This record gives sequence, structure tokens and C-alpha cells, in this order.
Amino acid sequence: MKSTLTPAEQTNQAHWDEVAPIHIEAYEEVALLKAGGIALDEIELHEVGDVTGKTLLHLQCHIGTDTLSWARQGAIVTGVDFSAASIAAARQLAQETGLDATFIEAGVYDLPNVLEGQFDIVYTSRGVLCWLRDLDEWARIIAHFLKPGGLFYIMESHPMWNTFEETESGELKPLYSYFHTAEPVRWEADGDYADDTYTHEVASYEWTWSLSDILNALLKAGLRLESFNEYDRLFFKLFPGMMPCIERWYHYPQYGGKLPWIFTLTARKQ
Ligand SMILES: C[S@@+](CC[C@H](N)C(=O)[O-])C[C@H]1O[C@@H](n2cnc3c(N)ncnc32)[C@H](O)[C@@H]1O
Repeated sequence: MKSTLTPAEQTNQAHWDEVAPIHIEAYEEVALLKAGGIALDEIELHEVGDVTGKTLLHLQCHIGTDTLSWARQGAIVTGVDFSAASIAAARQLAQETGLDATFIEAGVYDLPNVLEGQFDIVYTSRGVLCWLRDLDEWARIIAHFLKPGGLFYIMESHPMWNTFEETESGELKPLYSYFHTAEPVRWEADGDYADDTYTHEVASYEWTWSLSDILNALLKAGLRLESFNEYDRLFFKLFPGMMPCIERWYHYPQYGGKLPWIFTLTARKQ
């Protein structure tokens, strides 16, 4: 099946192929998994609930650390990503940890052409929405792959943070639009979020989606919203002024506890 990736998405695919080997070295989650642990946070474990024996489709799974964590929690997992290097790393990690998982190399929008069946849970998290060019189509694909009564779960950085840059005096200043624009923003020679000594060679394109875009896309696809939560910590160091708070999470001491850094959402197919 021919892929339907746009030129911007093809650049993103090359970008993620470049960083997958960097992340295999840099992600603490890899060592955690190899030591018998899991990469998931208590927020998502609590909000998704018991996954034992449930089928779980993980969209944009990258190197598979979260997918394999759900497998260790008892789910029957399928991870999907359009980066061949990420999928190869995920398969290697599955082998090294002895965890059962199916990994598929495919773009989100091509998935209905390459994958059959429906799942109890569709899961996606941590840095996924900015890579998507069409959120309504994304939501329709989620609904397509959910069984009736199935659960969609997302944990994502709060879209408000697409708007801000940190100034030299350590203040947060709104510079970019919070609202979606059809044209993505191109980032050149960006630093890497997991390895701050690494500068990307391949550029990337990112789209901004507001909270209303996200909620409306899921509602239009026929999903029923069950919960929406916001939390005051983030799963990566977005701004230089951010500091570690609990293990593998960051906060901004200057604005401690006053701002939402992530949101989570559960929605169910009728
Ligand atoms: C930040 S990572 C996902 C984070 C993951 N939870 C983690 O922490 O490792 C974003 C992933 O989205 C994938 N991706 C981006 N656009 C995609 C698309 N259109 N279809 C499939 N995968 C895509 C990239 O290849 C990358 O692996």
C-alpha cells in the first residue's frame, strides 16, 4: 500500500528516524524496562485502569517504551509508528525484555489500510499531537479502531505551551499563536528533548492544536468524553528554567503549582 505522507510528514519521518537511535541511548525508560520496571506514570495507570487481558493499540509509539510497559501490565499490545528506525528499536527492546508486542510501521492516516480489527483501548501520549496534520481524521481513525464501549486515552502536554518561549530573564512570554494554522511551523537544528547534547540534523514540522480542536475532533468522531484532567508537571524539560520534581518529571519552580502543564482525557466509543 502506497503511503499518503505529505512532504512535511516525510521530513518528520526522516527526523524521527534520525533521533530513534539517540533516544535508545538517552531514554531512562529503556533501562527501567530492561530492569523489569515500567515507564508509565501513576496518573495514566490510575486513569486507564486495569488492562489485564485487554487489547491496546498505541498510536505513535516511538521506540516502544510505553507500549512494552502496557504489555508488562498485562495488555495485549500493538504499537504503531511511521519511523522505521523507531519500530526497529521497539522490536529489539521487546526481544531484550522478553515482552510480547506487535509493532507496525505505518503513518497514523494510513493505518486503516494496513491494520484490521478493533481494540479495547486506543492509547497515545507524550508529544504526539503536534505531528498530526488533521485532527478530525485522527479522531475518526481512533473511533474506527475502538470496539463499541472501548476506551480512548491521551496524556499530552498542555497546548498552551506551544505559545510560549522563555526569555533571557527567565520569564515565559507568549510569542506564537495558540490557535491552529493550516501551515505547520518548521524547526531547524533544534536541540533534543531527551539528550541536550544532541542537535537535530533533519528539520521538523509541527502543527498547533488548541484544546477545543482536540475535544471537538473526538466529539465529532462520536466518542463520549468521560474525563478531562490537568496537572502541574511535565514529562520533559521544555524550558531551561524547568527543574526535576518527581522522577522523570519537571515543573517550573517560579510558577510552582499555578499552571497546567499536561492534560489527560478519557473518551468512550458508544
Ligand atoms: C515524541 S514521540 C512519541 C512519544 C512516545 N510516547 C515516547 O515518549 O517515546 C512522537 C512519535 O510520533 C511519531 N509520528 C509522528 N508523526 C506520525 C504519523 N503521522 N504517523 C505515525 N507516527 C508518527 C514519530 O515517529 C515519533 O516516534
